[in-house]
Amino acid sequence: MEIKHILEAQQFNRDWLENELFPDTEKMREVADSGGSNLLKGRRVITFFYEPSTRTRASFEIATKLLGGDVIFSTENAKEFSSAARGESIEDTVRVLCGFGPHAIVLRSDEEGMAKRAADYSSVPIINAGDGTGQHPTQALLDIYTIKKELGEVDGIEIAMVGDLARGRTVRSLSYLLGKFSGVKIYFVSPEVARMRDDIKDYLRKHNVEFTESHDLREVASKVDVVYQTRTQKERGNLLERYENIPGFYIVNKEVLGLMKERSIVMHPLPRNSEISPEVDPDPRAAYFRQAQNGLYVHMALLHYVTSS
Ligand code: CP
Repeated sequence: MEIKHILEAQQFNRDWLENELFPDTEKMREVADSGGSNLLKGRRVITFFYEPSTRTRASFEIATKLLGGDVIFSTENAKEFSSAARGESIEDTVRVLCGFGPHAIVLRSDEEGMAKRAADYSSVPIINAGDGTGQHPTQALLDIYTIKKELGEVDGIEIAMVGDLARGRTVRSLSYLLGKFSGVKIYFVSPEVARMRDDIKDYLRKHNVEFTESHDLREVASKVDVVYQTRTQKERGNLLERYENIPGFYIVNKEVLGLMKERSIVMHPLPRNSEISPEVDPDPRAAYFRQAQNGLYVHMALLHYVTSS
């Protein structure tokens, strides 16, 4: 499968995930452990972020360096520190950046669809590092890799996706990827106002992925192999007020851990706020920091794909 841009999770197929991404990510883990390589020698990467990031920007930049490439320009707040602040469009911005000779642009924006708009005007691969409430495909790729690595299988898993599902982009992208596997069951657990949007539910129905919707994590915790917790997207407005004022239960704490299977995991794309209690961290089922680390290896593999084709 040839990859130019990485824009949305549904562009990938199962064969590519299992036979290219997963094994190549394992190789990149070895490369990182052995101090790096020259696979990206002579390759130049721009990271252009309109929204804050720790994991995604750091890991793409470190991935570039570990593979012997160069991050030739990076901005962490393009809304303020680029000419976007003076009204420049993404179309003009990307045309100008392409003229500076990158081999890939990693782009995070606050607008759904901006990565696709950028790709329409870009002569080099655009990697969507999150576009508003749209998608976060690179997060979903590291999530599906983490599920495979932690549980050994993706087929047949039961997963609870919890929290602000209406505006969380990671759960949207992960739902698309889970639709590539068989026998998966998804429990969407959220307040009424934060339910998963219809486009994803329509996609899951079309791909015969069973799902339910509820608002108490404790009711499903004992059934699932994965609790995928998310934070309230406060930066996207006041759709949700404080969780404690909304009927239901959406926190991973010791009580929830006590209900979960011995062989199950808690995931979170991070950053977390109060939706996973720190008391959960020492439990071996708390996989979220391992998940974040996996992102480095997945991003190394993705950079290699898009810059070598
Ligand atoms: N998971 C994730 O995208 O984290 P950052 O916002 O820190 O990049």
